[in-house]
Amino acid sequence: ETSSARGVWKYKLMLPVKKEVEPVSLGEGDTPLIPLKSHKRLFVKFEGANPTGSFKDRGMTLAVTIAKYIGAKSVVVASTGNTSASAAAYAAKAGLECLVYLPRGSVARGKLFQALLHGAKVVEVDGNFDEALEEVIARYVDNTQGHVYPLNSVNPWRLEGQKTIAFEIYQQLGFVPENVVVPVGNAGNIYAIWKGFRELREVGVTDRAPRMIGVQAEGASPVFKTWLAKADELLPVERPYTVATAIKIGRPVNWLKALTAVRESNGFMLSVSDATILEALKTLARSEGIGVEPASAAPLAGYRVALEQGLIGQDETTVLVATGHALKDPEVRF
Ligand code: F0G
Repeated sequence: ETSSARGVWKYKLMLPVKKEVEPVSLGEGDTPLIPLKSHKRLFVKFEGANPTGSFKDRGMTLAVTIAKYIGAKSVVVASTGNTSASAAAYAAKAGLECLVYLPRGSVARGKLFQALLHGAKVVEVDGNFDEALEEVIARYVDNTQGHVYPLNSVNPWRLEGQKTIAFEIYQQLGFVPENVVVPVGNAGNIYAIWKGFRELREVGVTDRAPRMIGVQAEGASPVFKTWLAKADELLPVERPYTVATAIKIGRPVNWLKALTAVRESNGFMLSVSDATILEALKTLARSEGIGVEPASAAPLAGYRVALEQGLIGQDETTVLVATGHALKDPEVRF
């Protein structure tokens, strides 16, 4: 058995990839679904167990596979950190050059280290993530003369890989849970997971679907605000702030996709304070033995709010998607 037969690539038939395409894989996926002690029907999908420590590897294996297949020589990505860490590793595996645009001073230490470790060329942008992404789009997406392949989540392959989180949750539980809680930043992942559940229904594996619950940090909650106002246009946040640097994003490109996931699934958006994120991080670390970075603790903070407000019940099965590993951000204090 090769590494391509496990994890994400065992779902090759559900991925829109031609048979002859050779995966660029590091064995991503097959992450544990961990039952929590604190609540009976509560589980953590621990994406920190991926090769570079975040769920980004699921999408990156697809996107870099395609980049290599079409003959790209370089890849580029703007990132709050995890996407760049993942891109750097998969580009190294594929023998491609990797260029990453990062918001100066807003990327957790571990993630920056990974990008450099794997040999990416790092460009630090004086501005936040939104500005870094704008620069990448202007230079490499709108300008199609370049031969640099863009890997941001405007790239549809990323979402195709990330939808396998849904397939694994279904297989590990043996059924579709009532709720799936996801931290929302650039807003692609919640849609990707929803797409996965929708496809399980379409192919007749199940007739059920979960509610998708998106959680943002109070200081960086444009999708929450837009959802609450039932607005047709994104209500952006000009100066996003939060301890959860992974999701410190004011103008998420996939905002409409995220709202589609939430609306179609009868779910909802929540915003939580940094203090409750850190409290949740501490609970996961000290009571459950699960080490996550701040963004990945947001779902537990959101779950607590949802329970309190009666938006969901204790008797419902809920999966919290813990998107990134604790070692990503060793400077977090609580
Ligand atoms: N959790 C972690 C740990 C992340 O790194 C991200 C996104 C998210 C949640 C949110 O996922 O953007 O699909 O809504 N990180 C991106 C990056 C922005 O550049 O690494 P999303």
